[in-house]
Amino acid sequence: MKLYIETLGCAMNVRDSEHIIAELQKKENYTLTSEISDADLILINTCSVREKPESKLFSEIGQFAKNKKKGAKIGVCGCTASALGEQILKKSPHVDFVLGARNISKITEIIHKPKTAWVGIDYDDSTYVFANSAKSSFKALLNISIGCDKKCAYCIVPFTRGREISIPLELILKEARRLVDGGTKEILLLGQNVNNYGVRFSTPHEKIDFTGLLRRLSEIDGLERIRFTSPHPLHMNDAFLDEFASNPKICKSIHIPLQSGSNAILKAMKRGYTQEWYLNRIEYLRAKVGDVGISTDIIVGFPGESDADFEETMKVLELVKFETMYSFIYSPRPNTLSYSWGSRGAVEKEVAKERLSRLQSRHKEILREISQNELGKIHKVLIENNKSSVGETFSEGRSDTNRLIRIPAFIDMGSFVNVKIDSINGSSLFGKVV
Ligand code: 5AD
Ligand code: SF4
Repeated sequence: MKLYIETLGCAMNVRDSEHIIAELQKKENYTLTSEISDADLILINTCSVREKPESKLFSEIGQFAKNKKKGAKIGVCGCTASALGEQILKKSPHVDFVLGARNISKITEIIHKPKTAWVGIDYDDSTYVFANSAKSSFKALLNISIGCDKKCAYCIVPFTRGREISIPLELILKEARRLVDGGTKEILLLGQNVNNYGVRFSTPHEKIDFTGLLRRLSEIDGLERIRFTSPHPLHMNDAFLDEFASNPKICKSIHIPLQSGSNAILKAMKRGYTQEWYLNRIEYLRAKVGDVGISTDIIVGFPGESDADFEETMKVLELVKFETMYSFIYSPRPNTLSYSWGSRGAVEKEVAKERLSRLQSRHKEILREISQNELGKIHKVLIENNKSSVGETFSEGRSDTNRLIRIPAFIDMGSFVNVKIDSINGSSLFGKVV
């Protein structure tokens, strides 16, 4: 049997797809195919954080239905499945089943059930999450918690992934050791709110927080790099930032979602921190770690955002100078608090677009500016890719600070090399092995 799977969205979705593939390979003998017409089962694992991917879903289902072989099944998984549930079956006769993001361990059951939707969010997937893990590679994803207990006004995730449950420490350590034994050197820890780890487990558990988890993981011999996404600015206490700074296995790059620089908007978003707290955390971090890559998420056009509010976001961008910025126009999502406000405070589409474009072009300039500081620096790089174009072979890899660096040589994937940055083109870094 052949499986075609399409994955959209965040790292969590990517990891969920790995889990689905492994379950189907192990229990149902599926192998992967990249041809839709070849597949017996077509899965779409998609995201619902913003409206766009969700609306794309139905046109994709139509395309798949047209090109699939006779008798092949189509299933919709992930956050959109959770958000729309039965509606997907009603709206599209081509879909055979719908499996929510909190239910993925039931994939091998649901494929045998016609016209079924399982989208409950009270289901505890936490102990099954490593039952059939993906094969090791030098880089691996590892879940440490599922769901989210926050109630950010714009966010659909608590409705699609349910309440937050931390995965027991022993399971995480066991899985990390298994990955490392199979050749993994870098692990990316995943959770909606990683630094809230340990608040609730599904069964009684020793007390441990995210800082403790990081310490325990870094004791694993052979594990060279630990990354994580995403932490919440609210839970960035000194102990966590001290561990981040002093533990050599923890990569010096961190995602700190700002969302807005305006205190009024942060309050309306129910983010739980202020601009001052956010800047204070950045200052504390930078005082401890000279060279740290900081990335962020920003939403523009949240209901009620005035020009002055937006200027506060621009101010934070100016002060922090993020290495990476993911920015979005606010998209109202059903079930969320801000959705219930209707058109109250709505920011005109054109205004939001203008703000986004101003934010992005200023960030582009900042990135060029800060990239200049990279010239002459030596980075330890984990090689991820080998590529050839117009007769030239080169390798690419990431620094500890998560910058992508290109080296004009063939270097084995999965190896570490020290690279000195010798040229910069815009924000792209180039260097040679030293
Ligand atoms: N509209 C726009 N962006 C959103 N995000 C989450 N929900 C929405 C929404 N309704 C963004 C946030 C979050 C990132 C993953 O997606 O910035 O951090
Ligand atoms: Fe959504 Fe907020 Fe939870 Fe992040 S912390 S997943 S933005 S509710």
